[in-house]
Amino acid sequence: MRKQIAAANWKMNKTIEEGIALVKEIINADIKLNKNNEVLFSVPFPYLSTIKDLISSNGYMFVAAQNCHHKKNGAYTGEVSVEMLKSIGIEYCLVGHSERREYFAESNQVIAQKVDLCLELGITPVFCCGEPLEIRDLLSQNQYVSNQLNESLFHLSTEDIKKVIIAYEPIWAIGTGRTASSDQAQEMHAHIRSVLISKYSFEVAEDISILYGGSVKGANANELFSMQDVDGGLVGGASLVASEFIQVIQALK
Ligand code: PGA
Repeated sequence: MRKQIAAANWKMNKTIEEGIALVKEIINADIKLNKNNEVLFSVPFPYLSTIKDLISSNGYMFVAAQNCHHKKNGAYTGEVSVEMLKSIGIEYCLVGHSERREYFAESNQVIAQKVDLCLELGITPVFCCGEPLEIRDLLSQNQYVSNQLNESLFHLSTEDIKKVIIAYEPIWAIGTGRTASSDQAQEMHAHIRSVLISKYSFEVAEDISILYGGSVKGANANELFSMQDVDGGLVGGASLVASEFIQVIQALK
């Protein structure tokens, strides 16, 4: 049975003290979860080890890096490699977030290289995809997302694709307060699953968690996560507020 996941994405926010206080408040909330529920904290690089230590006794919480470099190692001043993440025990990494695609010009091809490196070292990539508003206005979102999957993921073997988490994040819904409706989210998630079925198999598609991201918060998480193909969320702004993120976690199926 595929996992239902609430993934926080702090982006470039919080001091370490604020981050620790936030995570402690969430841990102390004593949330009742199912066996297949998981909580991820995608935190800035300097906080990974600290937050990992803080949650390590907690079997269903994990930290994730927000990015990694697409080369194994070398003269890339200021960058962080997958091997470095592995060496400090990190198990998840966001790959291809739309902010990375937009501000750091990450192409589908570079993102494919990141996915490969993560899988090679046993780190689960959380692969982000999603269309900009002009594509949605043209009603071309399905084709656009299919192409992202095709160019960054579909070279993977059946064994490897099963290790990937997909996060669908329509760019027009990120940080805008304009959430996709639960029907819009379900429609795209079903599309992604159908593409996975045609490329791999029904069993493979059924096993892959597909998260929704874009203005998820306490007040809309229940409705979004209740949709059949929505397996939780990738949450930015609302993950910075303990009470909001706790509600999001509680909304997991
Ligand atoms: P948001 O961000 O929840 O603030 O819209 C989501 C994301 O970018 O992952």
